[in-house]
Amino acid sequence: MARPKILVTQKVPAPAYPLLKAVGDVEANQEEGAIWSYEELLRRSPGHEYLYCLLTDTIDEHLLMACANAQPRLRLLANMAVGFNNIDIVAATRLGIAVSNTPGVLTDTSADLAFGLLMATARRIPESERFLRAGKFTGWGPLLFCGAEVHHAVLGLVGMGRIGKVVARRASGFEMKILYHNRQRLSPAEEAEYHATYLPLDELLRQADFVSIHTPYAPATHHLISERELNLMKPSAMLINTARGPIVDEKALVRALQNGTIAGAGLDVFEHEPVVEPELLSMENVVLLPHIASASLHTRTLMATMAAHNIAAHVRGERPPNILNPEVLG
Ligand code: DGY
Repeated sequence: MARPKILVTQKVPAPAYPLLKAVGDVEANQEEGAIWSYEELLRRSPGHEYLYCLLTDTIDEHLLMACANAQPRLRLLANMAVGFNNIDIVAATRLGIAVSNTPGVLTDTSADLAFGLLMATARRIPESERFLRAGKFTGWGPLLFCGAEVHHAVLGLVGMGRIGKVVARRASGFEMKILYHNRQRLSPAEEAEYHATYLPLDELLRQADFVSIHTPYAPATHHLISERELNLMKPSAMLINTARGPIVDEKALVRALQNGTIAGAGLDVFEHEPVVEPELLSMENVVLLPHIASASLHTRTLMATMAAHNIAAHVRGERPPNILNPEVLG
């Protein structure tokens, strides 16, 4: 029987390749850091039965149609990410194309970074390091880089799924008061476990010293935090986003930071990634990271092999473990 054709759209951690090569013929983008443009993706993808893709690949209906109409047709998209807003899953499902993601393995690592970003923003760590490197440190000063307290402060978690819950655990170590808002309220037992109090979003925004976003991006969460919501926050509050950029209206955030509506922001994701609102780049009260929440080599390797296992299972005729639209598998 002919081996299936597998396309890997970016260079990924090495252990993924032998898993893929064991089950199919692999064509891979091997250029470190090179992201194929949409046109390139559209040119290369049709004719592959498996697409191993990344969150930087826009897999829209047009591309899916091209892959579904080609010979051989696309059977599975394995996204090496837990988020899958880069894929039109409704169109994929309609076209009978399975989609998988990589949940679970990046939860702790992403929560670590979210908490680190909160700390860095509150305590002005990057700003003070820039100051020191610029040769401006002339001695300890009573007012030098006074930031905001983290311990005992109020943390508002927007989204209380896997990552939000682990951030709550980290926050407990700092004796923070934990508020959360989620589509579905946790059970009383889980609320007790995470020391978390449920609040409607507006009330959470009014009370929190730090608002940290952990909700998936979907049409319903587009600009969930916009001018109105920013206006509800305390002038001393800080916004942390490690989820997806378009959950926050980035232009409204710039205005809120410029006007002192809120005190600071820590951002690992951007509305028009990799483009960043230029005003943010020169603001000292903002910490900006290049979407690295899950970036430890160990975690990225787990994500890479998980995506490969999803493809390998499908090739072997087994049910891939992380299918998002199981209805296409019957
Ligand atoms: C994801 O997996 O969705 C993250 O944004 C990247 O690790």
